[in-house]
Amino acid sequence: MVDSNKKEQFEGIVSEVRKIVNGTQGREEKLQQICKLLRDQVDYYDWVGFYLVDPQKERELVLGPYVGEPTDHIRIAFGQGICGQAAEREETFIIQDVSKEDNYLSCSIAVKSEIVLPVFKNGKVAGELDIDSHSLEPFTEEDRKYLEKICEVIAPIM
Ligand code: SME
Repeated sequence: MVDSNKKEQFEGIVSEVRKIVNGTQGREEKLQQICKLLRDQVDYYDWVGFYLVDPQKERELVLGPYVGEPTDHIRIAFGQGICGQAAEREETFIIQDVSKEDNYLSCSIAVKSEIVLPVFKNGKVAGELDIDSHSLEPFTEEDRKYLEKICEVIAPIM
């Protein structure tokens, strides 16, 4: 994908996400639709899902809406795997080649790379957007920039 096309495409996705967030459905359905939108629109996004911080346990993530293969990783403690590290460090993790990671929770051998972005609400991590790809090194700064934007748009419904 040429970068200018990618920018245009991502801007379209951000505006679709805004429409979903402002819609009348419940939170689960909105998050589900956002997963589907991202997976349908970006060819190298193969698994797209949300993890939500468990309000009872605080330092534990629980799997929310997703599209793609079912995963064994329903609950992830802060610090564990890429998702847990992103929650603990409160920053985006881009892993271009998961085979090089020690602290990684594998969902499927088809997954080659992953991007995990915290969603902040009232200054705290409320959840995460997690995307797995079957391609090696697919993510660019454009992915980070627009996905971080999407996380900001989603924050009110997290
Ligand atoms: N790979 C993640 C676990 C979640 S699955 O990708 C759905 C991790 O290392 O935290």
